[in-house]
Amino acid sequence: GKSGYEHYMLKEIHEQPRALRQAISGRIDDFAPAVDLDIDLPDEYLQSIEEIQIVACGTSYHAGLYAKELLETHAGVRVTVHIASEYTFNGGRDPWRTLVLAITQSGETADTLSALRAAAHEGAQTLALTNTLGSTVTRDADDTVFIRAGPEIGVAATKTFVSQVATTVLLTVHIGQLRDVLNSQTAADLLGSLRTLPGAVQQVLDQEATMKQAAATYADSDAFFYIGRSAAYPVALESALKLKEISYDHAEGFAAGELKHGPLALVTPETPVLAILTNNAAAEKTVHNVKEVESRGAPVLGVTSDDQLTDDLNTTFEIPECGLLEPLVANVALQLFAYHVANEKGRPIDKPRNLAKSVTVE
Ligand code: M6R
Repeated sequence: GKSGYEHYMLKEIHEQPRALRQAISGRIDDFAPAVDLDIDLPDEYLQSIEEIQIVACGTSYHAGLYAKELLETHAGVRVTVHIASEYTFNGGRDPWRTLVLAITQSGETADTLSALRAAAHEGAQTLALTNTLGSTVTRDADDTVFIRAGPEIGVAATKTFVSQVATTVLLTVHIGQLRDVLNSQTAADLLGSLRTLPGAVQQVLDQEATMKQAAATYADSDAFFYIGRSAAYPVALESALKLKEISYDHAEGFAAGELKHGPLALVTPETPVLAILTNNAAAEKTVHNVKEVESRGAPVLGVTSDDQLTDDLNTTFEIPECGLLEPLVANVALQLFAYHVANEKGRPIDKPRNLAKSVTVE
């Protein structure tokens, strides 16, 4: 059941600290530092791959964009991320050296499965990242890593997004070390950030009342924009998807630097802008973009751990510092925002119109 929560979505948002602990439990050796994901793909293979092609849909696609940031920066491998329904495999002269990574919570998404199958048919190796034991993707892929988030009932993906990203941190450390590109200090930083994450997420959940208040303030708006850079950019996309799914308001995520190349024309005093100002995402530059939208009269809610910025900006929601994974902490704050805007509007949050939890047709 919903354990006393009004909606499954809210219950699942609150389950995130536990889901994250499960994702990392028994998989980290702090002393080495090293990870054990029980991967069957041979070490020599992972050392030799030239590219990882990620295929996914919706929220899982956003997790893929985040994973690209992690893998390219810390595992020394080129990564391309594809909307599964738009994907055509291109493995160059040696398809074997392309690893196709399917990210899918349900393991049943038709678009993702058919992308994976097409790549396998062309000779690529395939790896699935999923939440669902025994799902179709676990049978189709050469190897599977589970995110261990537990069942997710709400149509809006919440805990599975953070668990997907957390698990790709482990994958990044595994591959980065095999390829000799990740020094032990950075590995320790990444794993340390992962260890800090459940507690940081809990601190955000403890401030739910503040976020609920912010949501009530803006709930009358019909259009919302989210901005962020580097890893905060996929979080902007994901936060906008969450709001549009459950509130039915228009919501868009933009790379902060792109605003002035077009979207700025949409910004008015009626369009709240949610700015993700996390420490590793060039927050100073995004502050610049915040000033641009503020001067057009848009109300801004900045999500940040930086006291300096809280003083500078009109309205901020403060999150705890969390090293390299801080954008994920911001994501949880924005899940609460989306939930409370939709709840203010009385939407059927767990079952939004026109949507299904798993999309088994192409
Ligand atoms: O089960 P999957 O991760 O493959 O599902 C992909 C999308 O259908 C899914 O993430 C969808 O976008 C969610 N409703 C988002 O909240």
